[in-house]
Amino acid sequence: MSAFFERFFDDFTKSREFADIELLNPLDMHLHLRQGAMLESVLPFSARSFALGVVMPNLNPPITTTALAVDYRDEIMRLSEDFTPFMTLYLHENLSLEELKEASVQGIRILKLYPKGATTGSENGVREVVSERILEILSLAQDLGFILSIHGESNGYCMDREFEFLEVYEFLARSFPRLKIIIEHMSDRRSLESLEKYENLYATLTLHHILLSLDDVLGGLMQPDLFCKPMIKTPSDRDALLLCALSAHPKVSFGSDSAPHLQSKKYSAHAPGGIFSAPIALSVLASVFAHYDRLENLQSFVSDNARKNYALDSVLCDRRKVVRLTPKMWEIPQSVACENDAISVLFGGRKSAFRQIEGN
Ligand code: DOR
Ligand code: ZN
Repeated sequence: MSAFFERFFDDFTKSREFADIELLNPLDMHLHLRQGAMLESVLPFSARSFALGVVMPNLNPPITTTALAVDYRDEIMRLSEDFTPFMTLYLHENLSLEELKEASVQGIRILKLYPKGATTGSENGVREVVSERILEILSLAQDLGFILSIHGESNGYCMDREFEFLEVYEFLARSFPRLKIIIEHMSDRRSLESLEKYENLYATLTLHHILLSLDDVLGGLMQPDLFCKPMIKTPSDRDALLLCALSAHPKVSFGSDSAPHLQSKKYSAHAPGGIFSAPIALSVLASVFAHYDRLENLQSFVSDNARKNYALDSVLCDRRKVVRLTPKMWEIPQSVACENDAISVLFGGRKSAFRQIEGN
């Protein structure tokens, strides 16, 4: 029996005619770029496809100060000319109100909340979200116009962690009605209900959560390259999230959560979560939207929704990065080299129906 996602990689374009696709300013609203050699290896793939990426702060050490965020932004900008890193600040109990104000002055607009221990690089995360200290920080964040991005998982049973965290999302949405809160990498169909209930709740969706189910990760031989947090869930979660993407739900933006790890780590006894999708994200999204005849919604899903919901007009201004994709099969590389190691690419070895045209 072939996996659900295989249908997007057979040559479905043979029986139908497709025109070229033009996307204006594609935006990746959740991205891990890492640092040093790995940053150099992976950044070109995001910069090639996206005008801007929201850069996650879970480095070692994490980006907990404005100075660290500004240095990191400079490091990224030195390596790419045509890509805007949109920085995030790592929320923790000792974050001072002064530091938050300084971040705001330096143009940092996203605060990222990791519950302690929930995922890679969350060791310094928040122990108790609903605590006096964190609520005080969030109150100022609301006044300063920050967006709060949350890796929302409890420490309960792994498949129910996002669902269990919904009560925290809802409490925060009620307590801070002027604070925009993002359910990052939405993975559970039950989160869609919370999204409808609160005006100030938004979400990002990854490619892997809309195309894969747990069967793909664990149903045959174990696939460490498909292991990520939050865990990929059931076929009905996948189907509901896929529909949400295809309809370009106005409160939902694309965020790849492209999270590279070296194969030597991924194939060890303690594989970290993270899926590297940056090299193929737009091309595979185009195939999926074409397959369902929903290409008219792709621009909203990969750009317009985020531009509006994150108020990016003042950042993008009159930027016109046009990315073109043409209906031509190309073989996705298995991996990308990084120093003496390699990073597996999501869907490596398969043939994708839309190919990005270089030289935009
Ligand atoms: O799978 C994941 N990988 N989920 C996260 O939340 C973090 C990420 C990473 O940094 O590797
Ligand atoms: Zn992430």
